[in-house]
Amino acid sequence: MRAKYMKVDAKCPDQDAIALGGKLLREGRLVAFPTETVYGLGGNALDAGASEKIYAAKGRPSDNPLIVHIARMEDLYPIAAEIPENALVLAKSYWPGPLTMIFPKTDLVPLQTTGGLESVAVRFPSDPVAQALIIAAGGYVAAPSANTSGRPSPTTAQHVMEDLGERIDLILDSGPVGIGLESTIVDFTQEIPAVLRPGFISLEMLTQILGEVKMDPGLLKDDPDVRPKAPGMKYRHYAPKASLKIVEGRETDVVRWINEQAEQAGAEGKKVGILAASESADAYDFGEVICVGSRSEEEEIARHLYDALRRFDSLGVDLIYSEAFDTPRMGTAIMNRLLKAAGHHCIRV
Ligand code: TXA
Ligand code: MG
Repeated sequence: MRAKYMKVDAKCPDQDAIALGGKLLREGRLVAFPTETVYGLGGNALDAGASEKIYAAKGRPSDNPLIVHIARMEDLYPIAAEIPENALVLAKSYWPGPLTMIFPKTDLVPLQTTGGLESVAVRFPSDPVAQALIIAAGGYVAAPSANTSGRPSPTTAQHVMEDLGERIDLILDSGPVGIGLESTIVDFTQEIPAVLRPGFISLEMLTQILGEVKMDPGLLKDDPDVRPKAPGMKYRHYAPKASLKIVEGRETDVVRWINEQAEQAGAEGKKVGILAASESADAYDFGEVICVGSRSEEEEIARHLYDALRRFDSLGVDLIYSEAFDTPRMGTAIMNRLLKAAGHHCIRV
């Protein structure tokens, strides 16, 4: 099966495309669509068979739960059994938006959608195409990122086509996404709300509203004994095909060290990729340098990260060195994804 491909206007989505997408989803089929974070692979969240198709299309382990997307606040109540007051306050500030909240689930949500868990992750995206599609589908769309399991998440419809073009029914294309990293996930099934995946909504933004918030211990270090609470965070993920190493230190030291490694690898006939900020990109003399943006524009770095990792795949590099990006606001999310892509290989120079 080759997916039908339709371009849609990002702000004022074409009604034919939305109606077709909605119809396919109601029939239990799969539709990829844009959100403000990354492209999602949608299926009817209340249909166990549709969720099984999502796992199969992505090659995703079926114990890794899906996020249920809604587009009306009132649609939260039928799927979430207990909603703490502070979650509603958070929703007032950041929904619609790049925030996912986890609650105990009701029986309406099949266990196939939640990977066997008694909780459900819910997100209300701000993207107009996503919202229109969710409504047309009946209100509940399960959507993981629309990539093959393990690969970098898709930030354009072309990325979706590369990974899933032969396995799904429709791809809606409204151009590149705005944020480029997946939503922040906050777990409200614990006494103190916990961040299970960092994203655009930072810990500081959450703390301002919720008071006490903790980071899931599984996020803080790569300790095999500490299991992340979000099952998806335990897998190597977001990864390019070549082995990736992150190099930390003073900018001049990092550039010198990577240049030495790249020169040596080049002499051995290996092709090296280098992921750099615009401030230092010109200082590299060897290899394929991809610049993700300026350190003073951290949202640009986040937006370009996955595309850069995919471009290294098409360049066919043998190994990749990346600078570290501990930027002030989105640095936690950027480094979380980069460290996972690197299998936590980090070198301090
Ligand atoms: O920005 C996003 O959230 C994108 C777009 C498409 O909305 N979606 C996305 O979905 O990133 P996915 O499936 O790639 O990542 C969902 C993450 C996984 O790590 C999964 O384990 C976790 O959320 N998750 C989902 N339901 C959960 C639950 N009930 N308890 C704990 N973790 C959960
Ligand atoms: Mg994903």
